[in-house]
Amino acid sequence: MSTPAVETSGSSSSSYSESIVRMAGVTKRFGDNVVLADLELVIERGTNFVIMGLSGTGKSVTLKLMCGLDRPDSGTVEICGVRLDNATRKDIACVRENLGFVFQGAALINWLSARENVALPLLERGVPRKEAEEIVARELAEVGLSDIGDKYPDEISGGMRKRVGFARATVDEPKLVLYDEPTSGLDPRTTRTIDELIIDARDRLGATGVVVSHDVASALRVADRIGLLYEGHLDVILTPDEFRRSDHPVVRSFLESAPLGANGSS
Ligand SMILES: Nc1ncnc2c1ncn2[C@@H]1O[C@H](COP(=O)(O)OP(=O)(O)OP(=O)(O)O)[C@@H](O)[C@H]1O
Ligand SMILES: [Mg+2]
Repeated sequence: MSTPAVETSGSSSSSYSESIVRMAGVTKRFGDNVVLADLELVIERGTNFVIMGLSGTGKSVTLKLMCGLDRPDSGTVEICGVRLDNATRKDIACVRENLGFVFQGAALINWLSARENVALPLLERGVPRKEAEEIVARELAEVGLSDIGDKYPDEISGGMRKRVGFARATVDEPKLVLYDEPTSGLDPRTTRTIDELIIDARDRLGATGVVVSHDVASALRVADRIGLLYEGHLDVILTPDEFRRSDHPVVRSFLESAPLGANGSS
């Protein structure tokens, strides 16, 4: 495969329309369980795309395909101009340098402090330790956790772990950030803090975000577009306003079960 076409020039302008995620004809099955069936998806640079869908519909699988943690059975997955479905490990590593992943459940390394967890992507890239420490201190301040840098994951709350996970995913200013349920299990105030960080990553870093969420209020706040993963496809793609007005039965069920109301202002 030729040299990956990973973009290096940052742009915080969402009017600069160029797709950063392009999935075409993607099918993924586990045994008889066909999870994704001929899925098509294009996500424009500098936008936040929220994937909603009932449990087990393949949202996490879709994110894993986007970062090369898994491969489709058929179809193509192109991230930052690089085909991941048939990429070499070197190509995947190259794309991952431009990608941050906020895992469902934070997935921090338990034997490293919060500060060391956040420093990992920088040290892996060879940033000198002193410089990395300064960047990590800034990043921890950004997520409001300056005073817990020395603590270990099991010494901090779930909301703090999520924020450390967020800091680790964005510390190296990735072009694309994948968020797997970044606010699940959090109280409304911490949820709002995480939402603001996701919006800020788009607006300040120009990062493209793909956010898997069950939380309607949160989705309406952070999304430029919301895609409903349903029967293996992402055919229903709506702006937040269209989502509020949609009469799609699954969208209605999300809106009607939204604990905070569906206006996104709560
Ligand atoms: N490695 C795997 N091996 C076998 N089946 C898998 C594997 N990963 C996912 N699946 C199956 O694929 C389907 C989709 O899983 P996925 O984790 O993407 O769901 P999800 O939409 O993220 O659900 P949730 O909202 O509960 O997190 C499920 O039926 C799951 O059991
Ligand atoms: Mg999931």
